[in-house]
Order: sequence, then C-alpha cells, then structure tokens
Amino acid sequence: MDKLIIRAGQPLSGVVKVDGAKNSVLPIMAAALLTHEVCTIHDVPDLSDAAVMDEILCCLGASTAWNKSERTIEICARNANKTDAPYELVSRMRASFLITGPLLARRGYASIPLPGGCAIGARPIELHLKGFAAMGAQIVKEHGFVSLHAQQGLVGAKIYLDFPSVGATENIMMAATLAGGQTIIENCAVEPEIVDLSNFLNSIGADVRGAGTDTIRINGVRELHGAGHTIIPDRVEAGTFMVAAALTGGDITMENIVWDHLKPVTAKLIEAGAVVEQTEHGLRVRRNAGQPLRTVDIKTLPYPGFPTDMQAQFMTLLTIAEGTSIVTETVFENRFMHVGELKRMGADIKIEGRSAIIEGSPGLMGASIRASDLRAGAALVLAGLAAEGTSELSGFYHLERGYCDLVSKLRGLGADLELRP
Ligand code: UD1
Repeated sequence: MDKLIIRAGQPLSGVVKVDGAKNSVLPIMAAALLTHEVCTIHDVPDLSDAAVMDEILCCLGASTAWNKSERTIEICARNANKTDAPYELVSRMRASFLITGPLLARRGYASIPLPGGCAIGARPIELHLKGFAAMGAQIVKEHGFVSLHAQQGLVGAKIYLDFPSVGATENIMMAATLAGGQTIIENCAVEPEIVDLSNFLNSIGADVRGAGTDTIRINGVRELHGAGHTIIPDRVEAGTFMVAAALTGGDITMENIVWDHLKPVTAKLIEAGAVVEQTEHGLRVRRNAGQPLRTVDIKTLPYPGFPTDMQAQFMTLLTIAEGTSIVTETVFENRFMHVGELKRMGADIKIEGRSAIIEGSPGLMGASIRASDLRAGAALVLAGLAAEGTSELSGFYHLERGYCDLVSKLRGLGADLELRP
C-alpha cells in the first residue's frame, strides 16, 4: 500500500499506546551480533526498518525468530560467520552501518557498502571510522565498499567526537565492548537510545559506564553472553501524537512513554498553547479547538535539545499558529523536504539557509502530496488531518519505516483514513 487518503475534519481524541523505539531497536538488534548466545528483545516495533535489520542479521548467518504478535525477537548469532553485508539490504537503510562495530569487535573484519547521501543530507560516517581507526582497525575504501580489519583485535582508545553523533557513539560503544583495555568516548551523544543500548550491552556482560553523559567509558571484556531486554518507548512516535492532539484541537492520552524523554517537545507544545499533563500511565495533550495556537521558535539540537526527528511535524503545527515562527535545523543540512509539500497545502513558509520562516494561516487545504522521507511523511499526514477536504499522500512506505500500526492507531483516535495500492 503506497497511498494514504486522509479525509480531514475531526479533532483526534482517545488513548494510544506508543510502541518500542525504532532508534533503540536497530542498534540493539545489531549488538546481538556480539555474542554467540541468544538475545531476546521485547517491545520490538513491527517496522520495515526493523525487518531490514532482521534480514541483514540473517544474511550474516544469525538465526532469528520474530514473534510479531508478542512483539519479541530472539536473535542467535552463534553461526553469524559472514562479515559482508549485502548492498541491496544496506542501501535500504542507513542504520545498517551499525553492524560494523559488532562485526569488527567479534570477527575482526567487516565489509559494508559505503552509505550514499539520503533525503535529509549527506550523512557521512567519518566519525564512526575515526573511532574504529583509533582502536586499531585498518580501513580500506574501494569500489563503493568500506572494509575494516582488526585481526589482532581492537584496543581501547580515547576518542573525541567532533560532533555528538548518535550512530558513531553507538558503533564505537559496541566495538569497544570486546576491545582490549578501556575506551573513552568524549563529546558523545546523550540520547535516551544511547542509554538503552548501554543497558542492553551491560545486560549481556559488557562494562559500559556514563551513558547519558558526554563521556562514556567502556572496559573491554573477553566475552559477552545472551540476555533479555525491553526496548524503551519511541519518543518520536509519542511526540507525533502529541502534535496531532494540539494540531487538530483534540485530546489524546499516550500510554507507554517516558515523560523525561518528551520534555523538549512538551515545553514547545505548552508554549504553543496546548495543555500537557502527566497521567497515571502516560501523558495527555489537549487543546480547545476554539483557542488559537501561538507562534513558537524552534532550533533542533542534539538531546536534550529539540529533536530533529520532530522538526517537520512541529512545522505543520506552526503553519496554523497566529503570526511568524522560525524553525532552525542545525543537525541535518537538508531537512526541509516537507516545506514544498506544505506550501502546496496553502502554508506560507520561506526558507533562508538553515531556517524556515513560517507565517501562520487560518488553515491548510487538502491536496495530493508526496512523502520524501519518514518524518517529512509524518508531517504531511498531520497536515492532511488538519486540512480542509481530502488529501492523497503518496510514498506511504516511508512511514512504515518508523510508525508501527499508524493507520489503525489514528483511526482509533477518530481519523478517517484509507490505504490504497
Ligand atoms: C540518528 C537517528 C536519526 C536522528 C539522528 C539525530 C537512528 C537509527 N537514527 O541518526 O533518527 O535524526 O540520530 O538525532 O538512531 N555526522 C557526521 N559524521 C559522521 C556521523 C554523523 O558529520 O560520521 C553528522 C551527520 O551528517 C548529521 C549529524 O552528524 O549532520 C547527526 O548525525 P547522527 O547523530 O550520526 O545521526 P544518525 O546516527 O545517522
């Protein structure tokens, strides 16, 4: 199904259960390559990105059993003897690069297609490679592939990241678990998903300290073992439903959330005029449809700043706020692909460098629109839900990468949606 028909009008209301975090499950699935014992991961969201990671692990020789109704996957990498990741899988998902740290640590070798650019920017990997090189890996780039060798094993090193890259922090952390001696990663990412990965690594016998601060210390161990782990809730999925409540003048309660992880989005929603409150099992966002939204300025930053993964959805909200808002994207260089589509729905947005200047208008109009990537797609679904008339969104497959059961969850809140081939 590639097309989503959105018939707008209803304020969305009800209760929605948030699934496990895409950005946690991908590195944690990759980390299961670090041990020959079985790892059981719970609260695994049924996402196409997780399915790609599953396929990659199987191609490397791991055996997996994903029980989608139980939301659990068992991964056994005992026979994962292959170290070459296939191009057709890796090219479908950039996070595939996260297998390199575990492969290098356990097998001493990894070969993977170099990731190209993508819809939101160039997305280089030099920080990952600099970390591996500091730990003694030899790196060869040829014919569109990068191969990494550390036949004698990796050695602990002090690594300073020029930018607190989430993926580089995760890859280096995983590689360091089996390295000789101590690795220190400075200026590392502090996202909740880093802490989740660290908790998983420690549960399989690693010695990782300081995750969630800007310095992580990893003392290498000889061997890791199997364990069970439950993935944290997806803060971007929760944030998207929070925006949906404020945007449509609705009332949505999200269950299975971590309140702290949502602070940056909560603060901006309150500034924009929504009511956000903690409930016994989650969080409730509401706005009286008669009450206008206020303008808000946003700058995306590494955690705990405002997440780049919520920038597009928040911009949709600001298109109907009274007055001028400025959204500045500092994490990725090309993350305004949704702007052109929002303009086709009647939004008034100008881009100046890394900022978008949004003049709020009374409402959006339904239109045929195209999702260029996952979060841009989410912004357009939200726009369709708030617009007058019907919208036809193509490229729905992008949303399946990161939103589990999106259509049924939105229908449960009162949205009128239809999926078409
Ligand atoms: C992860 C998330 C993604 C989120 C992003 C930022 C996953 C699977 N994806 O992506 O949803 O939007 O964090 O919060 O967890 N950079 C370099 N050199 C590098 C690596 C990164 O310059 O070697 C730059 C990137 O081009 C980008 C910035 O650092 O401008 C942030 O990237 P990074 O934090 O690495 O994002 P990802 O891990 O790819």
